[in-house]
Amino acid sequence: MVLVGCSSTSVTPTPSTDAGTTSDGSVTPPAKSGLPCAVQDVLSQRCHQCHGPTVQFGAPMPLVTYEDLTATATGGRIIDRVIARVKDDKKPMPQPPNPRLGTADLATLQTWAQTMPRSDETCAYKPPLPTPTADCTPDRSIRPASKWTMPKDKSNEYVCYGVDITEAQKRHITAMIPHIVNNKIVHHVLLLEAPTAQSSTPFACPSGMATTWRMLYGWAPGGAALATPPEAGFPLEGTKHYVVQLHYNNVQALEGETDDSGIDLCTTPTLRANDADVMAFGNLRFTIPPNSPNYTIDCGITVPNNFTGLHFFAAMPHMHNLGAKIETTLIQGGKTIDMGSVPSWDFNAQPWKPIDATVNGGDQIRTTCAWNNNTGQPVKYGSNTEDEMCYSFTMYYPRISGLFSWEVPAATSQCK
Ligand code: HEC
Repeated sequence: MVLVGCSSTSVTPTPSTDAGTTSDGSVTPPAKSGLPCAVQDVLSQRCHQCHGPTVQFGAPMPLVTYEDLTATATGGRIIDRVIARVKDDKKPMPQPPNPRLGTADLATLQTWAQTMPRSDETCAYKPPLPTPTADCTPDRSIRPASKWTMPKDKSNEYVCYGVDITEAQKRHITAMIPHIVNNKIVHHVLLLEAPTAQSSTPFACPSGMATTWRMLYGWAPGGAALATPPEAGFPLEGTKHYVVQLHYNNVQALEGETDDSGIDLCTTPTLRANDADVMAFGNLRFTIPPNSPNYTIDCGITVPNNFTGLHFFAAMPHMHNLGAKIETTLIQGGKTIDMGSVPSWDFNAQPWKPIDATVNGGDQIRTTCAWNNNTGQPVKYGSNTEDEMCYSFTMYYPRISGLFSWEVPAATSQCK
């Protein structure tokens, strides 16, 4: 299993007077930010992907200059919020799936925070750590027929568009790579497959997903492109009806922001040994009682004999906003093997996680989901934002042929 970083992204910056511009067009901070270089290096390499001179991916403020860090916001001094969020195990910064800050970097920030001396140093700018793309050249791209314009007065919007791809001769998709155009508003991107063609002009769609659509791939800031293992590829044959769902976020109420982000595919006519596919574990028949913190279900299936030898290579757990935790495990003989777990769920970060498990008939696959229902209403399974989900989309090969729906393992699971 190869997970590689997200594709390089492009930004249209609005440079401020004393800021410079790098070769890829992104804005660099002024050479004298008023911060010691050690502090600036931590911020530029680990935070500026989102909190740079031009804020991106829904980050609320820049963390660039002395003034930015010493300012006071509703939650207290910005520098104190910085340290609190870097140490926050539930909602860490940088946000997952980006790696946590190391102790040396945290110590640099903490030491400076004690007296916050203004620095006169001129620092060489260290750009955000590189985010590698897939190791292949995309040859198919999925894009909308026109750009979406984000309304100024909406902080969140879910938008979908459809693209049909027709291939006379079978090919294998070997990598799915996000193509993110407007970093200021794009928050996540999902690639789904629908039973029928959908409008190629972007349209508002629910934040959940139609249950007849199947998840193929998802990306959130910091997320990775996904390459299949060398022995497998997703089949592309006849006509496929793809849907891209975009979540836009406009917390700064920007005027006239447009976007036509999509997904690039690497495909090959040289077929891999196995067709890959996605199935979902979890459960569809739960109701979370009102006012129940930490309501948990533990549901599972006994692996049927026709699954013997299936190899699972990536998992994307999926819940909605009340989710607290989701864990899928394979119980094989006396062993427990991780099949994709998110110990503290964050709706805004839904990465594919590499897993490595081969199943046998008679094994157990169990999914535990926990929610905090702080509303006065019961919340049921469903695809709308107000509903909840307990799904773990899981990529595997070889694809089960014949009448098998991706949803069967979740739909037939029994809860303790
Ligand atoms: C991949 C994008 C991304 C990266 C990288 C990132 N942030 Fe954030 N940050 C966000 C988003 C989105 C929010 C708003 C949502 C939230 O608060 O979780 C945010 C909010 C914040 C807040 C304000 C919220 C509060 O609790 O007051 C602070 C402080 C913060 N980030 C600090 C940092 C620091 C420090 C780093 C680097 C060590 C960093 N962030 C890296 C995206 C990012």
